[in-house]
Amino acid sequence: MAILITGGAGYIGSHTMVELLNAGKEVVCVDNFSNSKPVSLERVKKITGKDFKSYEVDLLDREGLEKVFMENDIDSCIHFAGLKAVGESVEKPLLYYHNNLTGTFVLCELLAKYGAKRIVFSSSATVYGKPESVPISEDFPLSTTNPYGETKLMIERILKDLYVSDKEWSVSILRYFNPIGAHKSGMIGEDPKGIPNNLLPYVAQVATGKRECLSVFGNDYNTHDGTGVRDYIHVVDLARAHLCAINRAETLTGVEYFNIGTGVGYSVLDIVKAYEKATGVKINYKIAPRRPGDIDECYANPEKAAKLLGWKAEFNIEDMCRDSYRWQSNNPNGYGDD
Ligand code: NAD
Ligand code: UFG
Repeated sequence: MAILITGGAGYIGSHTMVELLNAGKEVVCVDNFSNSKPVSLERVKKITGKDFKSYEVDLLDREGLEKVFMENDIDSCIHFAGLKAVGESVEKPLLYYHNNLTGTFVLCELLAKYGAKRIVFSSSATVYGKPESVPISEDFPLSTTNPYGETKLMIERILKDLYVSDKEWSVSILRYFNPIGAHKSGMIGEDPKGIPNNLLPYVAQVATGKRECLSVFGNDYNTHDGTGVRDYIHVVDLARAHLCAINRAETLTGVEYFNIGTGVGYSVLDIVKAYEKATGVKINYKIAPRRPGDIDECYANPEKAAKLLGWKAEFNIEDMCRDSYRWQSNNPNGYGDD
């Protein structure tokens, strides 16, 4: 019995495959490499010393995907594949709706057809929109501000309807907060294309001299130092949450929602300080205007995941910064070097 991993070559997927393989699970990866490279899968094999099958397949290609089901004994799925850049989703909404929604439709039809009605889905804290208070619990009101977020919320609702229509489904919705860091080997990590949109990849590139200076987007937010506060979570902790979710799904049907965060918020300037402390490298920064759409504060109440999944984040912010720096120093051009 194998777990189908869609988007397994990506940042979170590759780290999750390491944890699944180390736990003795069988995995089959599908990815179209639109935002990743096959070399990440080779590195997963090196880290774990284990082999697995992978297919270059687009989820929109029903025939190609069905072949994967025919050739493997798939009984569940962790569904990472999707486009994820908020700004790009505003510019290209049809691309985002088509890729993320249609890809999920094709996938779910085949999961049902082949009797693998167990899915763990990558959702995001973005579905809480601008929360009225923090920490955020799973029952907070949901809203979104961009097409990317819409696709997450729509897929959450579609998966719920699927269960309503057929009680054999097991659906676990994981709402990630801000994944950062990298595997301790320094062999896999986040490999953004071009100028990074997200804070940590940018800081990592300043630390290693690839970029001059971090722009801190706004210092007049309603937070302890005026800069935006987020719940940063080590990608390996996040990966382990998937292992817990897939184990729970083996025995339960239904739909469950889990916040996957640490429950602690750090500001942009806290991150700069933590990065400097963890690495001994100075991070140049300047205060810049706010980035449209950003919110003041966002951090999780992760108690439900602790209680039902038996999962808790273990790495601290310095671990996250140190591991990010190791990955970036070893791979200044990401997987492009290989
Ligand atoms: P990523 O881009 O590194 O990985 C996604 C993978 O999916 C890539 O390898 C890409 O090539 C693949 N893919 C995209 N469309 C596909 C398609 N149609 N068919 C086959 N493969 C396809 O992103 P990530 O950071 O690893 O994120 C994984 C998931 O988690 C995504 O769904 C993302 O929206 C979600 N998420 C990410 C974050 C974050 O900050 N990284 C936060 C919340 C949620
Ligand atoms: N920031 C800067 N400078 C930068 C980049 C970011 O100051 O160069 C600040 C932002 O203003 C924000 C904080 O750093 O206050 C974090 O920003 P990120 O872009 O790293 O992360 P976001 O919280 O904005 O968004 C991320 C993902 C979304 C996802 C969301 C919740 O990019 O896709 O987390 O999971 F929806």
